[in-house]
Amino acid sequence: MDKPLVVVTRKIPEAGLVLLREKYELKVNTKDRALSADELKKIASGAHAILALLTDKINEELLAAAGHQLKVVANYAVGFDNIDLAAAKKHKVAITNTPGVLTEAVAEHTIALLMAVARRVVESDKFTRSGKYEGWEPELLLGHELKDKTIGILGLGRIGGRVAEIAARGFGMKIIYYDNGNRNKEMDASIGSESVSMRKVLTGADVISIHVPLLPSTKHLIGKQELESMKKNTILINTSRGPVIDEKALASALGKKTIAGAGIDVFEFEPQITKELLKLDNIVMTPHTASATIETRDAMAVLAAKNIIAVLEGRAPVTPV
Ligand code: GLV
Ligand code: GLV
Repeated sequence: MDKPLVVVTRKIPEAGLVLLREKYELKVNTKDRALSADELKKIASGAHAILALLTDKINEELLAAAGHQLKVVANYAVGFDNIDLAAAKKHKVAITNTPGVLTEAVAEHTIALLMAVARRVVESDKFTRSGKYEGWEPELLLGHELKDKTIGILGLGRIGGRVAEIAARGFGMKIIYYDNGNRNKEMDASIGSESVSMRKVLTGADVISIHVPLLPSTKHLIGKQELESMKKNTILINTSRGPVIDEKALASALGKKTIAGAGIDVFEFEPQITKELLKLDNIVMTPHTASATIETRDAMAVLAAKNIIAVLEGRAPVTPV
């Protein structure tokens, strides 16, 4: 009998590919870029499993083009807003993601962005290279200290929780959070965090960090009005999904300095970036690389492969959506 066909929509770390190659016929996109919808349909045709990226739209059309033998789509991401879950259900295709293994990497990147903005690291680097540095100055490139400041976490899942822990234990920050009114009593007891209203996070936090999934209800969670309700010294960090912030409104708030700064890893229309943002000094941007550590990308590859193997061997997926 022919081996099942596993399609990988873009080269991922070998750690995952090796597991799949042992058991299956493996077809990996050899182009060094994401595939177009048409290319995706073509490569997916006849697949028993697809290992997909967050940039691949997994919708009715794609699932139909893949064919009825398709059993599983393993998303190489924790977020799965690129997948039409209703269509997957209709086609009886299991969907999996990669939770847990990227929590640390994303939390650490969140802190990297926060420190970069608070201490103006990128701006300072540019300044130092530019030849403008003429010696120590009392008021050169002053930033913001974090100790005893309040960080407001929007969305207290694994990542939000880990950011809260680092901020409390590492920097001595006060933690407030909003997660649809949910409380994490264990965390509250261990780090003194407090569940508050969305409004209280917006108006009371010196740092706001976003860790919600992209849903119809979280699109533009942060818009003009929300930005206007923030304090003037607020630093806003987003490592979740771009459309959670109204990017035009953010550019305007940063330009007028109604908030102090932003650290942004995800963009509303990525890879396009709102032009105004590119001219501002009070924003640090990274190209959706929050989970991009060697350790995590290997672990994501292994987990996605294990999900595929489980489903194709008739077992329950390890991390189903
Ligand atoms: C990355 O954005 C992910 O969802 O894993
Ligand atoms: C994602 O892993 C989250 O729960 O924050």
